[in-house]
Amino acid sequence: MITQPYITNYLSEHYADDAYRELSGYEARGGFEGLRKAVQMEPADLVELVKSSGLRGRGGAGFSTGLKWSFMPSGNDRPKLFVCNADESEPGSFKDRLIMERGPHQMLEGILIGAWAVGASKTYIYIRGEYKVPTRRVEQAVKELYERGYLGQKILGKKGFDHDIVVHSGAGAYICGEETGLLESLEGKKGQPRKKPPFPAQYGAFGLPTTVNNVETFAHVPFIVARGLDWFLAIGTEKSPGTTLFGVSGQVERPGLFELPLGTPLGEIIDHAGGVRGGRALKGVIPGGMSMPILLPEDLDVRMAEEFLSERGTHLGTGGIMVMDETTCMVRVAAVTSYFFRDESCGQCTQCREGTGWIHKICERVEAGRGSPADLELLDDLPGLMEGQTICAFADAAAWPIQGLLRHFRADFEAHIAAQRCPFPESFEL
Ligand SMILES: Cc1cc2nc3c(=O)[nH]c(=O)nc-3n(C[C@H](O)[C@H](O)[C@H](O)COP(=O)(O)O)c2cc1C
Ligand code: SF4
Repeated sequence: MITQPYITNYLSEHYADDAYRELSGYEARGGFEGLRKAVQMEPADLVELVKSSGLRGRGGAGFSTGLKWSFMPSGNDRPKLFVCNADESEPGSFKDRLIMERGPHQMLEGILIGAWAVGASKTYIYIRGEYKVPTRRVEQAVKELYERGYLGQKILGKKGFDHDIVVHSGAGAYICGEETGLLESLEGKKGQPRKKPPFPAQYGAFGLPTTVNNVETFAHVPFIVARGLDWFLAIGTEKSPGTTLFGVSGQVERPGLFELPLGTPLGEIIDHAGGVRGGRALKGVIPGGMSMPILLPEDLDVRMAEEFLSERGTHLGTGGIMVMDETTCMVRVAAVTSYFFRDESCGQCTQCREGTGWIHKICERVEAGRGSPADLELLDDLPGLMEGQTICAFADAAAWPIQGLLRHFRADFEAHIAAQRCPFPESFEL
């Protein structure tokens, strides 16, 4: 469920207003001021501006957006491409959906500013297949941009500024969110990540230089350009400026999206979501989508930005916060999580293909009351054998949550083995 984002900030300020979804409504509320300003600038200065803004990608890895743009080759000997990653398949993450449904022009304006900065002639927007409404809204918005001369040839009358946008639907595979899996899928092949190097900036979609950015990353760009560096740098933390859309799900009173500055304490965000449901005690919180290691109730003071979360052994990821109360069986959480990763592994790497299957089998066995102490020893070793060994970071994403659950909730696993059953009768249904 998506509730009204009620923390007023720049991205979501007008999301409640249906007119904001239309080009005229967007323009009336300041839309496309950033692009008008951008085309007055030299492309290299624009890349520098985004670099200095400290904007970090909102797709999960938190890489500097300006730096990524600077990797694109200069010169016009080969066409350059942008890809907007709208696959959003990380369980617990639903922010890109809201941007596409309520403010699609923010993302499109960000794409156009980036296109001017790096000299890209075309953008592919790769949208998660299940996102039917967002796809329709983005398609409608792209149509409006063509009609009003924001897309096509000589954009804003600027000679040499030509850009096209193609909206492409995915078909429901988590791995197609990984940027090179996405590129393969876009080319009509199986969505299997590529070995790197070469990196997409050298050899991306259809062999052309390509930059891949997340929906939300693009959506921040117009505000940075229109309102300036000082304004942006004053929000969030020194290393992670700006706001983000934190998605809060799980056992809270009011699940939803909350736009807040990066660095807001975790406990404060959960309070915005009404606190733990039914006044129960908190047991654990996943801070950034299912692939990120879990935190404990004593971590509620942590500031939600990568530099602080990494000190506690976890990451910001996509900012999808999943709250679990005292009734939750953490072995069940491990079983569900490992089921997802076993199913979604693309199967190219042995460590990932076999490791995710083994982890799932063991977690399921322990949860069903058939586990032994030897299972726990195996679970201690397996994630470490997968991490950092594979073509893409999926295997790390599959290993981290299990490591986190074992680190913090070993007692839950041991209680299942001792009792030969699940000792949490009130936990969620499998
Ligand atoms: C398994 C896996 C799944 C991913 N899924 C997504 C996704 O759904 N959306 C997204 O934007 N990035 C996803 N990423 C991150 C992308 O590979 C890439 O880093 C991102 O799109 C870059 O955009 P940004 O720099 O703007 O964050 C995923 C990465 C991995 C390893
Ligand atoms: S790590 Fe897993 S998902 Fe990534 S390429 Fe290897 S098998 Fe595929």
